[in-house]
Amino acid sequence: MAQSRTDDGLSGRAARAGGMTRRDFIRVSGAGLAGAALLGSGTLAGCGGGGGEGGSGSITFAWGPEETGTLQKMIDKFNRENKDGITVKYREMPADTGQYFDQLRTQFQAGGGGIDVVGGDVIWPAQFAAQGYYLDLSDRFSEDSRAEFLAAPMEANTFEDKPYGVPWYTDSGMLYYRKDLLEKSGFDEPPKTWNEMKEMAKKVRQDSGTKFGFVFQGSDYEGGVCNGLEYIWTHGGNVLDPEDPSKVIVDSPESVAGLTTQRSTVTDGTAPQAVSNYTEQESQTTFLRGDAVFMRNWPYIYGLAANEEESEVRQEQIGVSALPVGKEGDQTFSALGGWNFSINANSENPDAAWAFIQFMVDPEQQKTLALKTARIPTRKSMLEDKEILDAVPVIALGKEAISRTRPRPVSPYYSDMSLKLADQFNASLKGETQPQQAVNTLDRELKEIVEQGESQS
Ligand code: GLC
Repeated sequence: MAQSRTDDGLSGRAARAGGMTRRDFIRVSGAGLAGAALLGSGTLAGCGGGGGEGGSGSITFAWGPEETGTLQKMIDKFNRENKDGITVKYREMPADTGQYFDQLRTQFQAGGGGIDVVGGDVIWPAQFAAQGYYLDLSDRFSEDSRAEFLAAPMEANTFEDKPYGVPWYTDSGMLYYRKDLLEKSGFDEPPKTWNEMKEMAKKVRQDSGTKFGFVFQGSDYEGGVCNGLEYIWTHGGNVLDPEDPSKVIVDSPESVAGLTTQRSTVTDGTAPQAVSNYTEQESQTTFLRGDAVFMRNWPYIYGLAANEEESEVRQEQIGVSALPVGKEGDQTFSALGGWNFSINANSENPDAAWAFIQFMVDPEQQKTLALKTARIPTRKSMLEDKEILDAVPVIALGKEAISRTRPRPVSPYYSDMSLKLADQFNASLKGETQPQQAVNTLDRELKEIVEQGESQS
């Protein structure tokens, strides 16, 4: 996906986000969610705080399309029930997170575009906070309330020690497989390594006539970054040093091995050529139509398979597991995704915006979202909820996957890195550049971004 750039070749995000200290520049949570204690009570009561109570009037909530209609129902419920006379309007934004980001940024630059509450990607808070577009929630979102949410999404919503967002749901990349077809071909377990996955895909396709072996998100956009990072991580490589995130360490045999595996899925015919243009949407359509044995995607796809209009493949036919690894002994990892609620710093009605956010993250709403759309709740207590874990296996797996989830860099400059990563991962997947060369180019480009950030600090 093309993202806008200024004349000096930088994306508008980098051009404006000057003056950061080195510490602010890149802050990566090396621990990921590993340390998140999945305990805790989770009541809404603690959320309230300063800024007055409730507010009233009409506010606008921005977020991407929601296929199941659950979000609109929640908004209707809020509008029906609320006692303070607040009405929420849902403004549908692009499904592609990069396009949504660009649109939002343009509106923020023009004074806010009438949006009050932003349903924003987990990678945005540091960038929008640095630019003064997101409201500091310190006096509303108490430390006790923050502790009720999972550590990694909470960290991603924190910039210079202040909260700029309330985690809504969390995401983790997963391997979907056709349990029914694997069983018919004599496989009783999902694959552990990428090579095993390819061999299984071949056999299952021969036996069942399924069109494709594997689909994922290979397009030149943010989802492609998540996928490319996962290939690198599951082969033991990394992009930035978790101990010192200003150090670029992408140039390693492990990274090259990761991108080589990714490219080989196309050259050996496991994945269709077109996968280099696939986003979540195309992958999900292909898989839910019954045209792929395996798919890499986020948990909500499982929710779509509950609905006959959305899916020809039923939930009972689908298995979900951790992403495969390069070779036995390698550790599996997936990208930390997810979405949060933030308030536009220029909102004329932050109290009403906050009241709506409190409603959306209360345990009842998080539970509804989990049960109806298979999105992983961010409240620790919800991940102990037996009803959710029993009804939505993908959330039970997600809970387990939380310790293997790695964040993308939490940085005001992340979007510049992301553009470079997206371009090179996509070029390598298409065979336009060799994996080693993609890695060399990234090594140079990412170092330039880091140096530029440091020289401005
Ligand atoms: C999912 C993730 C989000 C990520 C996006 C990439 O929506 O939750 O964090 O950036 O996919 O396409």
